[in-house]
Amino acid sequence: MGFDKLLADRTKTMDVNVIREILKVVSQPGMVSLAGGIPAPESFPMEIMRDLTSTVIDKYGAKAFQYDPTEGFGPLREALVDYLRPKGIQSKMEEILVASGSQGVLDALGKVLISKGDTVAVEAPTYLGALQAFTPYEPAYARLDTDEKGLIPESLEKVLERGGIKFIYLVPTFQNPTGRTIPLERRKDIAAIISKFNALLIEDDPYGSLRYRGTDVPTLKSLAPDNVVYISTLSKVFAPGLRLGFCVAPAQIRKWLVIVKQGTDLHSSTFNQALAAEYIAGGFLAKHLPNIINLYRPKQEAMLAALDNYFPDRFSWSRPEGGMFIWAEGPPGLDMQTLYWKAVEHKVAFVPGKYFYSTPGEGIETMRLNFTMADEQTIDRSIKTLAEVIEDFS
Ligand SMILES: Cc1ncc(COP(=O)(O)O)c(C=O)c1O
Repeated sequence: MGFDKLLADRTKTMDVNVIREILKVVSQPGMVSLAGGIPAPESFPMEIMRDLTSTVIDKYGAKAFQYDPTEGFGPLREALVDYLRPKGIQSKMEEILVASGSQGVLDALGKVLISKGDTVAVEAPTYLGALQAFTPYEPAYARLDTDEKGLIPESLEKVLERGGIKFIYLVPTFQNPTGRTIPLERRKDIAAIISKFNALLIEDDPYGSLRYRGTDVPTLKSLAPDNVVYISTLSKVFAPGLRLGFCVAPAQIRKWLVIVKQGTDLHSSTFNQALAAEYIAGGFLAKHLPNIINLYRPKQEAMLAALDNYFPDRFSWSRPEGGMFIWAEGPPGLDMQTLYWKAVEHKVAFVPGKYFYSTPGEGIETMRLNFTMADEQTIDRSIKTLAEVIEDFS
């Protein structure tokens, strides 16, 4: 009673994750969800989980159930060095920190870097979970302009010229929410700009391995290693419930991330890290990744084809070569939140895009569509339904 008075000022800046609220609607019977951002359960390598578990118990015994160093389980950090090399990231085991999901790294970065009133530069739109991780540390946000190729380098340059930016947060590859990937030329420009201003950039890369077409683009970390904290996760290529993410960060920042993590959870689950170590080092990830890609590619193609077939001409949408999302934009003035409730009446859910902007009032006419959870037929049917709802609505 009256405990509200006890809340810290910081706590009052926090808000429920609207997507989680939307996902509650999605659990209604018969609802087709294009709303979530979660991997299909069929993408988890269930057929080897039992063997991996036995291997971990046989190989590591009680060590897999013991407290472990904050930085991460040694064999996993070693395996991650090899995993990161093809992404152009030349790291040593000591440079890799394991965290409880990449979300855990985002929160730790917020805690280490943001003082109240500092400015963080983010794309418009950006990953909602990053805003949710940073906002409790009470930053202001600087808006970075984007187009269909992602961040516009000139916008970054202008923002950095104005000064006072603590760090830049980007999802350069198959971005959540737009699916967009920043092309190589722009990446080179971005790398040159952050080097020129000696700025710190957080590269969040959960989707880079999920490529269905085209060729890989080098990570920003590979182009400007001293200025980039690279974050990734095993959530999309192994299993999100294991809560395993990791980062490669410059030494001066890494040291503080470790101290912060000690205070948060001492370390991430030893057993889960041991499973992941065996999954990667045993070659199972390399073997299984094509199955995940083959699962998602036809779903994404089905969604793009359905959008081409059914959506009105006054809409445009991204055509990503990978990831988990497609971003659609309607004509100015069309309110996707209202459309969302109409769509829900017809048993189709998506996420209104306005939630991914740091500035209120932006992105009213945008929507995020996820294609990983439904089958191809359902995707076709639900995009057709959405198109009909749009026609009735406008
Ligand atoms: C861009 C981005 N970053 C981070 C995360 C968090 O992932 P996890 O904490 O499961 O590693 C997600 C999850 O969807 C994401 O899309």
